Amino acid sequence: MSSPLGIFDSGYGGLTILDEIRRRLPEYDYLYLGDNARTPYGTRSFEVVYEYTRQAVLKLFEAGCPLIILACNTASAKALRTIQQKDLPLIDSQKRVLGVIRPTVESIGALTHTRHVGILGTPGTISSGSYPLEIQKLFPDITVIGEACPLWVPLVENGEHDKAGADYFVRQHLDAILEKDPAIDTLILGCTHYPLLIDKIKKYLPARIHVVSQGKYVAASLADYLSRHPEIKQRCSTGGSCRFLTTESEDKFATMASVFLQGSLRVERINWE
Ligand code: DGL
Repeated sequence: MSSPLGIFDSGYGGLTILDEIRRRLPEYDYLYLGDNARTPYGTRSFEVVYEYTRQAVLKLFEAGCPLIILACNTASAKALRTIQQKDLPLIDSQKRVLGVIRPTVESIGALTHTRHVGILGTPGTISSGSYPLEIQKLFPDITVIGEACPLWVPLVENGEHDKAGADYFVRQHLDAILEKDPAIDTLILGCTHYPLLIDKIKKYLPARIHVVSQGKYVAASLADYLSRHPEIKQRCSTGGSCRFLTTESEDKFATMASVFLQGSLRVERINWE
């Protein structure tokens, strides 16, 4: 029995990851869950992010998903480890949940020349210290500076990311992080919502700075994972389909998701019981 790969985010941001994964692995079926009713997660406590993420994981497992990608840095930073270590052995030790931080960190060693890297993320991701911790493990010579951008996710969730008013908030944090460390040559968009702001981000950055959008690294890492784990791969159904679950309005979700994905979208609203 095979089932779709699950992709989870607090809202629309994970669509930037889904898009890259589907480009890389178009043959699989996907089931995306956006917890739009409770977004943003980035300003919430460890306990709340863990509980919400655990509920989402259970929902996607109930739908049969053998493997779930937490396409959300906040959930990856605050909930992934506990879910992997504490919950999975009790729920189903044959299922897997993976995050987005590790694949992103693996990519930066080859990108930075100055060895000064900046992370832009939600307050939750930045305060968790997950990025510096992971980077330290793989590249101890790299200096890491973080900057929390609390309003960037609400800008995206409310469809304001491409409006002129967003420029002020984008520039504010770019100036702040470069002031903290002018030697930064690589800037990680450590939130899956941020690629929607990439045009504005690039507009206010010196051209010498490399902006890292996570999607393609997460997609490459997933492809590698599936090739190394045939027991999981054979449980992922192939058919090229994509279905969407949202905890908010189906229509709103379909409109927003169509920015990323072509064709008509199958969106279903779910409730947390
Ligand atoms: N897309 C999530 C992330 O990557 C977002 C966050 C939120 O809900 O605040 O962190």
